[in-house]
Amino acid sequence: MGFCVLGTGSALPERAVTNDELSEFLDTSDEWISQRTGISERRLCTTETLDDLAVAASRVALEAAGVTPDQLDLIVCSTTSGDHLMPAEACAVAELLGASCPAFDVSAACAGFVFAMDVADGYLSRGRAERVLVVAAEKVSRLVDWSDRATCVLFGDGAAAAVLGAGGENPLSVRLTTDPTVEVLHVPGVPGTSPYDKTDRPEPHLAMEGRRVFKFGVNAIVTSVTELCEEAGVSVDDVDHFVFHQANERILSSAVSRLGIDDAKVARALAETGNISSACIPLALDRLARSGSLERGQLVALVGFGAGLDTGACLLRW
Ligand code: ACO
Repeated sequence: MGFCVLGTGSALPERAVTNDELSEFLDTSDEWISQRTGISERRLCTTETLDDLAVAASRVALEAAGVTPDQLDLIVCSTTSGDHLMPAEACAVAELLGASCPAFDVSAACAGFVFAMDVADGYLSRGRAERVLVVAAEKVSRLVDWSDRATCVLFGDGAAAAVLGAGGENPLSVRLTTDPTVEVLHVPGVPGTSPYDKTDRPEPHLAMEGRRVFKFGVNAIVTSVTELCEEAGVSVDDVDHFVFHQANERILSSAVSRLGIDDAKVARALAETGNISSACIPLALDRLARSGSLERGQLVALVGFGAGLDTGACLLRW
């Protein structure tokens, strides 16, 4: 027994920040950012907390699913940028929704939504839960160094959610991998004032080796799609929609040409949102569902990749 997706939802901060606005305080330009990344603008939190965004996305998904908070058996939140180091972001979502089910977070960076779905599937498939809210919420703007043009221009804030119900054949196939390589992409440093702690305390800012991440991302998409389809016994051409992590337009287009797939099947939200880490995949999925182009019975491949280096991918029948 597997799961089906009952409804999706998303929420973005109100403030849109264009590339031109960033060039007012950074040595950058709309031309550089657009050409190298495909990003035109991103939404950044001003007065919104991550709790606000996470619960707003969750409410929309619950409404689409026709599920009330008291009917939830579990809430799993994917985040690496929660409002609280503890408790879990999922606990804040539960409190604001008025739900009383178990709630905890999954931390798998940009691949986190698919990892969280896989955790939810464990509960649904074993009969431990009937309805699970999976929400990915990220305030990446709090993790980047706003004087580093090589990283801060890439990211945005946002949240998106899906309500999963027991029954159904999903996932048709799943691929979770970790190639443990922390320094390639990480946010070092956590607060603390222990007089006994003699370890280094680097600034808590996102650091990455962009070109290594680029190659890893393309390979993660190509390998995952190939293996997901092989495992499910379908051809890559049978897949109706591809929802990949939205890190860089050039990663998407390289993967499209290596896989030889129809570019029109690849969901894109990057230009208006930037990279919102684990919220990218459910947000693109929600937009696809609301556009009316995602029909029941169609095949959808999700591939997330990011720090870890983690890859989380699955093939779903909608
Ligand atoms: N504006 C203007 N110039 C810039 C900027 C900027 N915002 N950022 C970097 N540059 C400059 C660099 O300083 C460098 O200048 P130099 O040649 O004088 O030294 C030049 O542009 C080229 O820099 P590179 O880092 O080599 O540029 P590259 O073509 O590799 O593009 C990028 C950088 C966009 C980060 C690319 O490597 C990439 O997309 N990598 C994937 C990483 C990624 O997407 N990370 C997101 C988070 S990870 C994730 O979600 C999984």
